[in-house]
Amino acid sequence: MAPYGEKAKKYLGGFIDLSQGTPVDPTPKFIQDALANASNSPSYPLTAGSPQLKDAIRKWAISNLGATGEFDVLPVIGSKEFVALLPTFLQSKAVLYPKVAYPTYLVGALMASANAIPVEIDAKSWPVADLAWINSPSNPTGQVQSDSEILAAINWARENGSIVASDECYLSFSNQAKSILHIAAGNNQGVLAVHSLSKRSNLAGYRAAFVIGDSKLIDQIRQIRKHAGLMVPLPVQQAMIAALSDNDHAIEQAQRYEKRRTSLVSVLLEKGFTIEHSKAGLYIWCSKNEDCYKTVDWFADLGILVTPGSFYGSEKFIRIALTASDESINQVVERLKL
Ligand SMILES: Cc1ncc(COP(=O)(O)O)c(C=O)c1O
Repeated sequence: MAPYGEKAKKYLGGFIDLSQGTPVDPTPKFIQDALANASNSPSYPLTAGSPQLKDAIRKWAISNLGATGEFDVLPVIGSKEFVALLPTFLQSKAVLYPKVAYPTYLVGALMASANAIPVEIDAKSWPVADLAWINSPSNPTGQVQSDSEILAAINWARENGSIVASDECYLSFSNQAKSILHIAAGNNQGVLAVHSLSKRSNLAGYRAAFVIGDSKLIDQIRQIRKHAGLMVPLPVQQAMIAALSDNDHAIEQAQRYEKRRTSLVSVLLEKGFTIEHSKAGLYIWCSKNEDCYKTVDWFADLGILVTPGSFYGSEKFIRIALTASDESINQVVERLKL
């Protein structure tokens, strides 16, 4: 990426980075206040999360995800560490992950010395394994999986006595996407849903995420995390409680991304790009029907950095992140129109 970054930075009108999914809109003030008010924190925090945080996650999972039946919750230090460590916690021997996907599923499997097997979305074609990842809405494609696709993944886990982990960190950016906990309809055995406040609440710098699902599994994971010192700092736990107590800011943020998506999609279509999926989440997944590095270079000539699809398992697509200010996105639209 470095040569393309260098080239894009030389553009006279200014460099615009659409290569990273890192939020740029401010952390809501009431969440900042919750963090600051908890800054006197001399004692170790609980790995399990404070009773107040556990309660907040549990209530949010019931009202926002449609979780029912028996389940447990566990805060984690951003969802990336959990994605990377889950195969190690579970001592997985074989891990399935989507063919076009966030790279940490593969990295986590390799860290656990597990066999990492890329698979299609359709779980009916999946081989036997201990653990499978699904991700809806997807990074990088923005694909939202249907109820039947998610149910097929649950059935695969039930038939094989395996675990299905659903990375749902972009769920708040879609009206269509459903949580695996909703589809599991109260039978949460072998099911884990991974959530993050990084994007929903612009809290990426706080490292605030959580897992919900199978109580037995969560207990097993909690025990290991306790001994490994994987605790969410108490001020961050307080900020999480505040963030989960309010949906308005999350809806506002989702609307911001939707506006950015609409204006970029329309200019990309005008320019003859093929757009696949890109229904929700933070990315547009598109192609000029050429090698992705050629397209990355084309954008770099306009002072814009985008990510080659080869980073995620696809040679002809690029990923454009919506994580730039409205002003920057408007500039991108103007440059693409030229
Ligand atoms: C699909 C997916 N999962 C997990 C993460 C990790 O997010 P965080 O560690 O900020 O919770 C990301 C970050 O971009 C992601 O795209």
